[in-house]
Amino acid sequence: MNDRLGQPGLPHGLVGRMLGGVMRWHNRPDNEWTLSLLDIRDNEQMLEVGFGPGAAIRLASQLNASVRITGVDHSPEMLAAAERLNHDAVAEGRVRLTLGSADHLQFADNSFDKVYSINCIYFWPAPARGLSELYRVVKRGGLVAITVRDKERPPYDAFRPEKLTNSLIEAGFSSVAINRNDVPSHPLICAVGTK
Ligand SMILES: C[S@@+](CC[C@H](N)C(=O)[O-])C[C@H]1O[C@@H](n2cnc3c(N)ncnc32)[C@H](O)[C@@H]1O
Repeated sequence: MNDRLGQPGLPHGLVGRMLGGVMRWHNRPDNEWTLSLLDIRDNEQMLEVGFGPGAAIRLASQLNASVRITGVDHSPEMLAAAERLNHDAVAEGRVRLTLGSADHLQFADNSFDKVYSINCIYFWPAPARGLSELYRVVKRGGLVAITVRDKERPPYDAFRPEKLTNSLIEAGFSSVAINRNDVPSHPLICAVGTK
């Protein structure tokens, strides 16, 4: 097991399953806010990287039943939890969940209209590589949203607005908008890059 990642970066075992339950309610505002910034349209193809317990995927599929959502997470424990939470949508073929890593996505170029990752980039082995992968798989004109905690201590300080903007531009995005939720008790930043 990878000690660098800890339970939040790679949930595993009983503790990982319990943490998944905590994430479902604690990160609900993060999911709602991020999806609201993505302006989901009918029949879009979406991708979430690092879906954890799968709550944002369920929310997206409830917000618009016509979208198709793919999820990638490297934790087998979270894959099982997300499959349980999204059982019906998976059975109907509206949601597809897979094991995989941000730095090597198993999808063709230009596959998705909207791509998002919430509370996850801190754990990527090579964030620049991961952002290049997100750029590769999103369609031209599509959006990529990266949501992080708005805090000035590690690991969050490596993803302050200016750094996040520069990283997205270096990955190829033509423009980046920085959003803040302005909730002091639960401060978040979401960088939305346009390809
Ligand atoms: C802190 S949890 C956040 C889960 C969910 N997005 C949320 O906000 O509730 C981070 C998740 O990202 C996954 N993860 C971390 N690094 C990853 C990587 N390189 N590739 C894919 N998934 C990763 C972990 O397994 C975990 O499920």
